[in-house]
Amino acid sequence: MSRLVVVSNRVAPIQEGKQSSGGLAVAVHDALSEIGGVWFGWSGETYASGSSKVKTETKGKITYATMPLARRDYDAFYKGYANATLWPLFHYRMELVDYHRRYVVGYRRVNEEFAGRLAPMLQPDDLVWVHDYHLIPLGRDLRMMGHRNRIGFFLHIPFPPPDLLTTCSDHAFLVQSMCAYDLIGFQTENDVENFLSYIRKVAGGTVGRGGRFEAYGEKSRACAFPIGIYPDRLAEQAAASADARQTKRLLRSLTGKDLIVGVDRLDYSKGLDRRFDAYETLLETAPSLRGHVTFMQIAPPSRSDVQSYREIREVLEGKAGHINGRFAEFDWVPLRYLNKSFQREQLTGFFRTARVGFVTPLRDGMNLVAKEYVACQDPEDPGVLVLSQFAGAAAELDGAVTVNPYDTEYVAEGLQRALSMTIEERRSRWASMMSVLRTNDLGAWRRNFLRALRSR
Ligand code: F6P
Repeated sequence: MSRLVVVSNRVAPIQEGKQSSGGLAVAVHDALSEIGGVWFGWSGETYASGSSKVKTETKGKITYATMPLARRDYDAFYKGYANATLWPLFHYRMELVDYHRRYVVGYRRVNEEFAGRLAPMLQPDDLVWVHDYHLIPLGRDLRMMGHRNRIGFFLHIPFPPPDLLTTCSDHAFLVQSMCAYDLIGFQTENDVENFLSYIRKVAGGTVGRGGRFEAYGEKSRACAFPIGIYPDRLAEQAAASADARQTKRLLRSLTGKDLIVGVDRLDYSKGLDRRFDAYETLLETAPSLRGHVTFMQIAPPSRSDVQSYREIREVLEGKAGHINGRFAEFDWVPLRYLNKSFQREQLTGFFRTARVGFVTPLRDGMNLVAKEYVACQDPEDPGVLVLSQFAGAAAELDGAVTVNPYDTEYVAEGLQRALSMTIEERRSRWASMMSVLRTNDLGAWRRNFLRALRSR
């Protein structure tokens, strides 16, 4: 069997138990620890001058190969093109796109450097799997260096419709680069349609059956592979965490109040400002809930050196203060807003304690928190997931209370519905979602993608 080489910008921390950043790192780590392979990417470090070296370290079945970024590359590639240009663009937030030529130049430079550093490590029959928007041109760069390996790409975030994508001057370069891969994976059918619609309408390509297409002189295939979790493992962990010290402390602190929980990186795409507004509307329109419900939003700071992230943080601090100032009582704080991260084991206990999982991104590739919340529930007394219709997970989780995050009154009604749902309805919604999670688990995501890549 050929070796698997995974390439992603963020590589899960090598130290056991350390917090990893975002769903991608968690998912890739879980997949690789099962089948083994090489994981190549950024070490998370930067250097001011001089040159860098690739550091390799093997832990269990995974060989980590990581390299630092020069400070100017971190600025132009990571902070700049990846997170100030592509991230808002791919999340349909044109007004937040910050575009500079030097960002594009840095983006191409880092991709070429990654390809150049990876190249000597590659064996001819390695299966290469590149992840996410930071590394779109990497496959093409490897091809230009003569590598004929099977190379697949998976986009963890949404892919916008052509009318939005073409607002970026580099749209053709981006899509042409994607076409150099043997297989392009997206989270949902909607993303696949957006991509193929670009191929037809803008690239002038042709689209056949099963996502096969031809464009820019390349033949490739685009398909949806919704990323999953291991629900039963998580359920076991959550059941064990129910007795953990922190879960008990949380429970005691609630003094019988219903808990609504949200866990998101502090990112404007997560819709936290509107989520806070919706909670305020709930307290306003349902006075009987005051003193009987607590909303805990965990939002570890993320990309805090990007301007739009600093701005959303300020907005949220203002809103949290406002809600608590307006409704708090001497014995009740309506909103607990925490800018810190927790270990996965602790979160499973918090999820199990919460009556409602509140997940309302304005746009999200998948959102694994939604899936994790469901898996962590007590089957006898499960909580309810209130989920944005614009999260990729909404295409699978039919038992959620689906809401439009732009309509705060509608979201507040969704919360009310979730809080007053009968146990029978909660159980039946949970069972239907859990069965989807089991079918589309993380193993299926990895197997389906790699099978399709091998058989191209
Ligand atoms: O899942 C989307 C994603 O952008 C990953 O690519 C990334 O690693 C994660 O979110 C967290 O973001 P960052 O690596 O910028 O901290």
